[in-house]
Amino acid sequence: MTGHNNSKTESSAASQELAPGETKETLTNRQGHPITDNQNIRTIGNRGPSTLENYHFIEKISHFDRERVPERVVHGRGAGAHGYFEAYGKLGDEPISKYTRAKLFQESGKRTPVFVRFSTVIHGGHSPETLRDPRGFATKFYTEDGNWDLVGNNLKIFFIRDAMKFPDMVHAFKPDPVTNVQSMERFFDFVSQSPESTHMITFLFSPWGIPANYRQMQGSGVNTYKWINAEGKAVIVKYHWEPLQGIRNLTQKDAEELQAKNFNHATQDLYEAIEHGEYPEWELKVQWMSDDEHPELDFDPLDDTKLWDDNQFPMLPVGKMVLNRNPDNYFAEVEQAAFGTGVLVDGLDFSDDKMLQGRTFSYSDTQRYRVGSNYLQLPINAPKKRVATNQRDGQMSFYVDVSPGQNPHVNYEPSSLGGLKEAERPGEPHEPEYHDKLTREPIDRQNNFKQAGDTYRSLESWERDDLISNLVDALSTCTTYIQETMVHHFTEADAEYGRRVADGLKSAKGPEGHVGTHPANEGMELSTELGHSTD
Ligand code: HEM
Repeated sequence: MTGHNNSKTESSAASQELAPGETKETLTNRQGHPITDNQNIRTIGNRGPSTLENYHFIEKISHFDRERVPERVVHGRGAGAHGYFEAYGKLGDEPISKYTRAKLFQESGKRTPVFVRFSTVIHGGHSPETLRDPRGFATKFYTEDGNWDLVGNNLKIFFIRDAMKFPDMVHAFKPDPVTNVQSMERFFDFVSQSPESTHMITFLFSPWGIPANYRQMQGSGVNTYKWINAEGKAVIVKYHWEPLQGIRNLTQKDAEELQAKNFNHATQDLYEAIEHGEYPEWELKVQWMSDDEHPELDFDPLDDTKLWDDNQFPMLPVGKMVLNRNPDNYFAEVEQAAFGTGVLVDGLDFSDDKMLQGRTFSYSDTQRYRVGSNYLQLPINAPKKRVATNQRDGQMSFYVDVSPGQNPHVNYEPSSLGGLKEAERPGEPHEPEYHDKLTREPIDRQNNFKQAGDTYRSLESWERDDLISNLVDALSTCTTYIQETMVHHFTEADAEYGRRVADGLKSAKGPEGHVGTHPANEGMELSTELGHSTD
């Protein structure tokens, strides 16, 4: 066997050599053939039937037929930009190496290239960007150790705390499978049976549920992660992006006015700001706790429906991100970008957060289907460092991941014939111990309503007014049972909160007492005593 010195196969698209007689403008097909007629299909006479051997037409139309790939099952509508992350080298006043050995954070001023995709969640690729919905905030850091993806949202918490519930939640929030119209009755049917979502609903139905644009919104990793230092010691952490442009949210009325004129405003705003050199910036802040159960807290630190009080767990800045370049092509970069919570570098780790564990399977699974099994060979997803694997073939395999000097005949490991070898361990491993039974159980400290009440009271009065009015509008289309259950949850959070929603529903009731759209609810009457107990 010979030791070929293989490098990645040259992309034919990279070659710009002109054939004799061609100019830089000459149209060709994908085989490189010059196209002399791009207006007329080949027919027998200029009114006759067309022929099938017309390669150019068939290539053109059949490629067009395949232009769309499956849309993301959630977060279908998005906008993206390139930029960089610059580290501060510290966590508060301390050297960051005390907490994590991740290389991108260590040195003050160190820059790592990034790509960010912002998104809305529920509706499809061209839906209005003014809808009430969480906003995605996914960042790919192309670090020297390979890629790190921080797949976050604008809000700091989530609706549910167990990945098992995610497909049901998304089904309830997406359009009705019969009418293809989103239904607040289906939405609140699920939410009312999932009391842990009361906190998220309090944010979502307030102006925080409609950020004014992507530049003036926060981001958060939402789930709990770990940092590992050189000794293999862990702390648990939460990540938050703070926009240096400030935060701006819209009331329902503002959003409706804007939507009447422009339903692409957030994509347009991001693109134009970057084109005009107004580069948006965010500071990355980290909250940390020791890696244990924290029995002193009234919530579980692995529960993503909870905020970590920033008086007790301060938001410590670790670096700054600047977005300064628009994509050259929306599809190649923004649509085909693939982020996942499993994409971590040395020094960053998972926690046992049950949502995070479920997410980590889901992302790369969907991307192998949505983009294809070789999605990591696309330039937007490939790390900006050497990749050397024994993975081969599959649809759209664009090059072979061999290292210079590697024997290309050896696509397995271990081998004595010049194949790839395992890497050195970069530091002490983090090896948590588990002593418990295998089980299916909810967590103990659920505390579903307290923080929802805290959040309600922390809103400004115009935000509370908008929240109540939005909830009353949405709940007015629901059955009495759903309304009463929701009012109960709001009352548990804060007595005034529950009372205001109940009063609003009573005045919205009208003479007929609307009780939802499902035929099974015909004849039901709206109870005069909203706010029953579901205990
Ligand atoms: C996108 C699953 C929870 C943020 C997606 C996608 C899936 C998914 C399948 C489409 C990915 C693609 O096609 O590339 C899940 C599951 C969850 C979950 C199973 C819970 C168990 C969350 C949470 C957040 C979040 C809690 C917020 C931190 C995002 C974002 C995207 C996304 C930002 C869009 C990424 C992009 O721009 O490409 N999720 N998700 N997800 N998810 Fe989740």
